[in-house]
Amino acid sequence: MIFKDIAFEKNALYEHIIDDLLEQKYSVIDTFFNHQEVALLQNSLQQVYENDKFKKAAIGNRTNEEIDKTIRGDFIYWIDEQKRSPAEDMFFTKVNNLIDYLNRTCFLGILQKEFHYAVYPTGTFYKRHLDTFQNDDRRKLSIVCYLNDEDWTVEDGGQLTIYMPYGESETAIDLLPKAGRMVIFESQELEHEVKPVNAPERWSITGWLKTR
Ligand code: OGA
Ligand code: MN
Repeated sequence: MIFKDIAFEKNALYEHIIDDLLEQKYSVIDTFFNHQEVALLQNSLQQVYENDKFKKAAIGNRTNEEIDKTIRGDFIYWIDEQKRSPAEDMFFTKVNNLIDYLNRTCFLGILQKEFHYAVYPTGTFYKRHLDTFQNDDRRKLSIVCYLNDEDWTVEDGGQLTIYMPYGESETAIDLLPKAGRMVIFESQELEHEVKPVNAPERWSITGWLKTR
């Protein structure tokens, strides 16, 4: 009789992400969401937008926050996983599959997650920072998924710049917020920023995978 280990089947994409994370603390996946999935998520964001649900993003965590436009200028809306739209359902299914895989292969112990939509109007940015709070170190991995058009250019700005420590100095890695692209990085390790946006708007879903 043949037994197949159905409990654990290797997934090339997830293995690639894990290798990147181990090697450089971040990974960029250009096709995490396909065109159709991006369109669904763009629609979902648009709905939230039309219902006027976006709020000026603050700095600090939800119990201790303050608004400072000289640090960040985006507008956000926290997604309620319990009341998810079909697009958000697709989103969380994909993210949950990744989390399951990470937990099984890397023993990361991800037990919680939180995601919000983010809109950066023209001229806004998010100054260099680390995704951790003084009183909360549960954020382990940051995930950003971009919901812009395919033809976003360098002139449109809004690059995610990741600062990689490199001996005594550092290297800045500029990533364009292109449609379907997902960036995942170690929240407590890599400083990063969002460069000023020149296009009418920059759309994304950002979130964190957290330990208990
Ligand atoms: C953040 C953040 C990066 C991006 O929301 O903390 O760093 O590319 N976002 O939107
Ligand atoms: Mn950040």
